[in-house]
Amino acid sequence: MKLFDVYPLFDITPVKAQGSWLWDNKGDRYLDLYGGHAVISIGHSHPHYVERLSEQLSKISFYSNSIKNPQQEELAEKLGNMSGYPDYQLFLCNSGAEANENALKLASFVTGKKKVIAFDKAFHGRTSGAVAATDNPKIVAPFNAGHEIVFCRLNDEQAFTEALDADVAAVIIEGIQGVGGIRMPNDSFLQFIDKKCKEKGCVLILDEIQCGYGRTGKFFAHQYAGIRPHIITTAKGMGNGFPVGGVLIHPDIKPWSGMLGTTFGGNYLAAVACLAVLEVMESEKLMNNTLSLGSQWIKEIQELVGRQNVRGRGLIIGFDLPDTKTTVRKDLLVKHRIFTGEAKPNTIRLLPSLALKAEEVDLFNEALKVELS
Ligand SMILES: Cc1ncc(COP(=O)(O)O)c(C=O)c1O
Repeated sequence: MKLFDVYPLFDITPVKAQGSWLWDNKGDRYLDLYGGHAVISIGHSHPHYVERLSEQLSKISFYSNSIKNPQQEELAEKLGNMSGYPDYQLFLCNSGAEANENALKLASFVTGKKKVIAFDKAFHGRTSGAVAATDNPKIVAPFNAGHEIVFCRLNDEQAFTEALDADVAAVIIEGIQGVGGIRMPNDSFLQFIDKKCKEKGCVLILDEIQCGYGRTGKFFAHQYAGIRPHIITTAKGMGNGFPVGGVLIHPDIKPWSGMLGTTFGGNYLAAVACLAVLEVMESEKLMNNTLSLGSQWIKEIQELVGRQNVRGRGLIIGFDLPDTKTTVRKDLLVKHRIFTGEAKPNTIRLLPSLALKAEEVDLFNEALKVELS
């Protein structure tokens, strides 16, 4: 059997990783400033993470959600306390798309409606169809034939107000758009949609899958705007590479047996991976590192490419390159052995580990200088 060829791959085969570094099968070392789409939050192969997962693997790795898993409860408590949402409820699943599917489903259960407002250049995942093909009225109502999505321009209060009619179940927005090119909703825009959703009785979903989990220096990006959405979705950095997703749910949304469900969600290994991430974030004060290092780095990149071309907060940073500089990402990788991400048409995306060091930032800045000269 061949692999289904859907990914444009770099011809690099990593065999080992530590902190912000990867080694390939030829012994070459690469600086990882992308973390496989913002996944590596505490650094590759962190010793505490490896120890916690290895220990759990030697005991029990999996049983379905039909029996108690105390580590899920421990995780919910720690995540609630560290994120500032101790009164919310946690539903665990396996990926970002699945977290968003469950969030939208909840919004429809709560409101009895299926219209959803999303924003231009948003990215919320790649699933569709599984629910629509499920014949179980208890699970799928009231959105059996799928949600109806309306797109608005980011930060356009008037367009949003016009779209927000009585049929809207939910508004879904990224705390900072990732795949869309590190585009930031204004704090005032987030406050505006939060207020409007509350007035209209529809559910505000904050997708924090790429920008959350400490990446901005606050636990969630939307916390800069001081809002408290009904639902927050998370994944990526949550497990530092272990596939896991989570939905944080307002206490007013009451669960009933069978309302949501998944086979693997919150299994023993996933729960321990998430706990280990939070433990390291706490003990190494990674959010402080993220904020101080990130703020300084943003200024340095602004000096290199122009203030107006740089966006981001903490360690989620994007910058646009001049139209003539079309090979910078490839050259950073091939000539300087530095992994970065991109967004179309010509934006570099930086999503390194929150444990990044100042000397690693310097290496990148030097390489970028060379490529821009
Ligand atoms: C903001 C956002 N939401 C959802 C997803 C989907 O996550 P997953 O690929 O884990 O399904 C992504 C993935 O890039 C994302 O960036």
